[in-house]
Amino acid sequence: MATWSAPGKVFLFGEHAVVFGRAGLAMAIQHRVSVTVRKKRRPGRVKSPYINECLGAMGVRATVYVRSQLPSSSGLGSSAAVTVATLCAINDEFQKGFTREQVAEQAFEIEKKVQKGRASPTDTYVSSFGGVVLIRGTERRRLPPVNLPIVVGNSRVSHNTSLMVEKVAREQERHPGIVNPILDSIGAVTQEALLRLQDFRALGTLMNTNHALLDALGVGHPALTRLVLASRSAGAFGAKTTGAGGGGCMIALAPNKARGRVAGAIRSCEAQAIVTTIDTEGARKEQDA
Ligand code: PMV
Repeated sequence: MATWSAPGKVFLFGEHAVVFGRAGLAMAIQHRVSVTVRKKRRPGRVKSPYINECLGAMGVRATVYVRSQLPSSSGLGSSAAVTVATLCAINDEFQKGFTREQVAEQAFEIEKKVQKGRASPTDTYVSSFGGVVLIRGTERRRLPPVNLPIVVGNSRVSHNTSLMVEKVAREQERHPGIVNPILDSIGAVTQEALLRLQDFRALGTLMNTNHALLDALGVGHPALTRLVLASRSAGAFGAKTTGAGGGGCMIALAPNKARGRVAGAIRSCEAQAIVTTIDTEGARKEQDA
């Protein structure tokens, strides 16, 4: 029996703009998915397509137990975390000898297959390696870790990443003169954030700007803006939509002493609040459950 866990992620800056080659920043969070894998002679009945694909790709039969601290389909990378943790646990239980890089690549292939070609390698990379990750074109690079105190607000409004990505692509084709400068500005916000990673007040202001730019791109949602405004009023340095938008989650960067208040403000809007910070480990082995 082997148990491994892998973290979820948030986009700190640059979602959507990264699809058009601009820079973005993502961060692994402490909230994770744990997966236990036990050898089995006959195939078990597994429901998740991600887990079925992991078993198929590794050529094994096993019983798989999943425990998750991440809400699914909310843009926090739960499917990537399940896939990475499952592959790591299979790798360990069946002594396959794959490296973490190979696991990250395999996890991306599985996400692509299950999500019919639309997956982004960001989620699987961040979940495998942890930390703050700079995304630029096809490059993904871990930066020195920063302990960002974050509150995630899950609006519980369902959203669809590929529809939002398509929507931005359509707008960009229709109105390049309007959309390209917005994408450039988002890229510039990320570049500025890279220089200010230790300055939470400045980062918060940049998050506010990024949120407005995402609204201008057409990926906002009133429920997200409500949570963003409530977080700022409760003392956050700044707050923004995180991920594809149109629903899903927002993040607030808050002083440690205000995090409880920000979480309360989010909950009072009938949303789920997750108080968290950076994870620097990525996938890790756990004690067997
Ligand atoms: O909602 P999420 O976390 O899957 O984020 C999507 C981020 C996009 O930039 C919109 C798409 C991508 O592949 O990077």
